[in-house]
Amino acid sequence: MRVLITGATGFIGSYLTPHLVRAGHQVVGLCRSDAGADAIVRAGAEVSRGDVNDLDHLRTAALSADAIIHAAFNHDITRMKESSEDDRKVIATLGELLKGASRRLVITSGTGLIRSESGGIALETDPHFTSAQFARAATEEAADELIASGAQVVIVRLPQVHDTRKQGRISVHVELARRNGWVAYIDHGANRVPAAHVSDVVELFRLALERGESGARYHAVAEEGIAMREVAEAIGASLRVPVRSVTQDEAQKYFGALANLAAQDLAASGALTQQKLAWMPRGPGLLDDLRNLDNDENGESHSSYGVLRSTPSTQK
Ligand SMILES: NC(=O)c1ccc[n+]([C@@H]2O[C@H](COP(=O)([O-])OP(=O)(O)OC[C@H]3O[C@@H](n4cnc5c(N)ncnc54)[C@H](OP(=O)(O)O)[C@@H]3O)[C@@H](O)[C@H]2O)c1
Repeated sequence: MRVLITGATGFIGSYLTPHLVRAGHQVVGLCRSDAGADAIVRAGAEVSRGDVNDLDHLRTAALSADAIIHAAFNHDITRMKESSEDDRKVIATLGELLKGASRRLVITSGTGLIRSESGGIALETDPHFTSAQFARAATEEAADELIASGAQVVIVRLPQVHDTRKQGRISVHVELARRNGWVAYIDHGANRVPAAHVSDVVELFRLALERGESGARYHAVAEEGIAMREVAEAIGASLRVPVRSVTQDEAQKYFGALANLAAQDLAASGALTQQKLAWMPRGPGLLDDLRNLDNDENGESHSSYGVLRSTPSTQK
């Protein structure tokens, strides 16, 4: 299949591009920088140079593809609403190209946007929040519209996707720990995050692309819920810094804009996905990757989430 990937230069895209090339697909990566273009070519794919919000360019690039995997997103937390509404337009634009065509679209969302009906672990069949509740849910709403129109759309919802360099929003906890010289978790740290290794996630994208059911929502979840206390302890062990509990009030100071998110229980299941797509995650667990953090020479980790700009520094 000829597959256009938006976000081909991102954390997930940079694994997904060579993965699909190795699987025999002809891959085109959308990108907007020279460095990104070089990386895409090195991965064995073609480059389509442009901004995802340049809808004319996007349309032209997508028209030459049999399928599109949309994984581009601007994670700057200070413009989350604007970026989410941009994403709605991107998905609507791609959706126009599915009408009356055999072309299919794989949309990337997050398990954190799902409201567990049982109040426990979020399932593939649970409803998503609305964009009035969480701006980022605009992506799921745009997907709903396309599914209602009968378009060939598949949604892949991601947990914290990790390797030893990046771990979704947990990368921000790593950066805060490095900056503050200690790691915080809230109260007993019993709230959980789901996770999957990036190598397993890109394999799920391949399966969703090749044999996903139209209209289906898949959860790329390998580990349903890891307690935040364990996450903090793994970061502390890796950075050799102390770990301690903070109250909800103290959490505001430590986590800043991330405080509410850091307290949430976000456990999610991928059981139905594993069964439907015969997806068998094999990669290392989140705690293993956190215990083996790959720090660069400057001691920086690799978060692409723009949270730290608005997060205060605290001393132990
Ligand atoms: N990683 C996770 O744990 C996780 C969890 C839940 C959901 N997700 C979702 O999964 C998707 C991929 O995540 P990721 O971790 O790979 O993100 P990432 O590392 O931040 O990469 C984002 C990608 O989007 C591209 N991009 C952003 N704005 C663009 C624009 N205006 N035009 C063209 N390209 C643009 C970036 O291109 P440049 O290289 O040019 O900046 C980059 O390739 C996103 O939708 C994300 O929200 C990820």
